[in-house]
Amino acid sequence: MAYPYGNRISNLTNSIEIIGPRGNTLSVEATGEGPTLMLLHGFAVDHRMWHNQMSQLASRFHLIAVQLRGFGKSTLDEANFSLAELAQDVEFLRKHLAGDEAVHLAGLSMGGCVAFEYWRQFSQHLASLILVCTKPTTENAEGNAGRRAMAAKALSEGTWPAVQPMLARLLAQETQANRPEIVEQVVTMMRDMAPATVVACQEAMVQRRDFTDLLGSIRTRTLVVAGEDDVITPAKDAQTWSACIPNSQYHGIQKAGHLAPLEQPDEFNSVVTKFCG
Ligand code: MLT
Repeated sequence: MAYPYGNRISNLTNSIEIIGPRGNTLSVEATGEGPTLMLLHGFAVDHRMWHNQMSQLASRFHLIAVQLRGFGKSTLDEANFSLAELAQDVEFLRKHLAGDEAVHLAGLSMGGCVAFEYWRQFSQHLASLILVCTKPTTENAEGNAGRRAMAAKALSEGTWPAVQPMLARLLAQETQANRPEIVEQVVTMMRDMAPATVVACQEAMVQRRDFTDLLGSIRTRTLVVAGEDDVITPAKDAQTWSACIPNSQYHGIQKAGHLAPLEQPDEFNSVVTKFCG
């Protein structure tokens, strides 16, 4: 695949680094041929959570797994960011890597919150929206206090002690009991996150916009995917809010928790492929 916009190719694999508008580095993994499908990871994991999609969907899509600011080779530069700014990074990458093409955009959890923000600012560039294990609502005061406590702990004690309690909530019981390789992959991603990234993400999540009242305005074709065993963004809630989006389909995946694309890649990939046509 040729990247015609003068981007700096960082190495001979499929990692691409682009200097963003503020001098920050934005990094993606890209592979495949076909309509562009951009993938936005959630918090406490990174773009590697999409590795099954990158390997199994490359014959169907031009896949771009984004590393959000502070993850992988994408630099943090400033202490804080908003999810609206992360959506602007995604648009910068889309323009560079897909030109005039309207893209399919899939976001998981925090990445789904960024996808909502992308829709709000750039819906004209969307072929479809794929909202995975995410939610349009914000947390209450207690939830926000928990986020700030996690951020403070990451600064004082390091990333792992701060995020470790999340591990049991990220994966379905079934995955935790029978899929040690997935647990290990998730732990690796969690441990690789810098404390400053934990802080920036948690504050951005606290400050994020509530999209509940905007669901009825989403005219973009939308697929909502939930893990039936997800305790962070429960499937029954996803089914309810997805029905508020006029042109949406809902799909629940059994034996999947909050990381459904990693836990049940075959079903996830087949649903997405069918949806994108
Ligand atoms: C995520 O997967 O992005 C997180 O669970 C989001 C959150 O902290 O609620």
